[in-house]
Amino acid sequence: MTAVANNNHKNGSASATFADGRVQLMLGNAVDHYDDWPQPDVIVSDGPYGLRSFPGDPAEVNGLAALYEPHINAWAARAKPSTTLWFWCSEIGWATVHPMLDRAGWQYVRACVWDKGAGHIAGNANSKTLRQLPAATELCVQYVRRVYLPLGGTGEMLPMKEWLRAEWQRSGLPLSVTNKAADVANAATRKWFTTCHLWYAPPGVALGKLAEYANSHGDPAGQPYFRLRTRGKSATAKQWDALRPTFHCPPDRHNVWHHPAVRGAERIKLNGSTAHMNQKPLSLIRDTIAWTSNRGGIVWEPFAGTGTALAAAILTGRKGYGAEIHKPFFRVAAERLKNAVTDG
Ligand SMILES: C[S@@+](CC[C@H](N)C(=O)[O-])C[C@H]1O[C@@H](n2cnc3c(N)ncnc32)[C@H](O)[C@@H]1O
Repeated sequence: MTAVANNNHKNGSASATFADGRVQLMLGNAVDHYDDWPQPDVIVSDGPYGLRSFPGDPAEVNGLAALYEPHINAWAARAKPSTTLWFWCSEIGWATVHPMLDRAGWQYVRACVWDKGAGHIAGNANSKTLRQLPAATELCVQYVRRVYLPLGGTGEMLPMKEWLRAEWQRSGLPLSVTNKAADVANAATRKWFTTCHLWYAPPGVALGKLAEYANSHGDPAGQPYFRLRTRGKSATAKQWDALRPTFHCPPDRHNVWHHPAVRGAERIKLNGSTAHMNQKPLSLIRDTIAWTSNRGGIVWEPFAGTGTALAAAILTGRKGYGAEIHKPFFRVAAERLKNAVTDG
């Protein structure tokens, strides 16, 4: 079914929905809709910037964190341990909101820079008068969930990195045998059990081997080791992998994204004029979604604008859920989504 339906939301406000089995776009404040959407695999947030860029965007960044607070808390409450958040913002806007994201358990991974190129400012830079460099970039910051796990039956919850080490140490075995236990040359000692910034989580297969080794060679009093709950058995490879964010990024991509601002046929027009000043390039949004979710996964776009992440969800075979508070933009996005195509 493809339809724009008018409905009355539970908070009493009248709203409208565009839905076609692949995406749902709600007219209204995203905060009123998070509870109704399936848990997200990836959230693409491109909301207020504090630059007065669209109706409702504050003129400066004071108050931006308060504006985001109910969204950030709802994302944290509804996310899976494996959910990725891509947070688009101005530099100072992100700097202002980051502490709140961090407090809500969103763990910083990488700040990516969208470089729109010199063409973006050509003939339009008033640097001498303004006494500042013109901006040809925007930020898109990757976050994942900070996962806490129980240390044996102690009731203590530890972040994943500390938990891995503490669970192994609880077994009484030396860290030097973790490579042998996981059947790897040195990844265990150099990466999975390090305390430094080179740390990353082991794959499920390795975690399974480590648990097996600890259970058969470690202190019998503390068994089973590497449990995800205070009771029960050690984590299986599959359970462990479900805690880790999806990531399929090709090796030649990095955190600087050279791409011109949206123009030409991709730029959506309304009565001959640009429909939304903040329309993001479909290919950039498509890539972030493809890297951090699987086909059939759930994509949230809380601040839809023209619905670029929803269109990218359709294109990549994911299911999209979004909201747009401003009626003219909602209509533009609904029209765009009606015509959106999959990648086959
Ligand atoms: C930066 S634009 C998004 C542009 C979008 N990424 C695109 O490619 O078209 C932010 C949008 O969020 C909408 N918005 C702001 N606050 C909102 C809220 N609480 N709920 C839903 N939409 C909101 C604004 O009306 C605006 O259209």
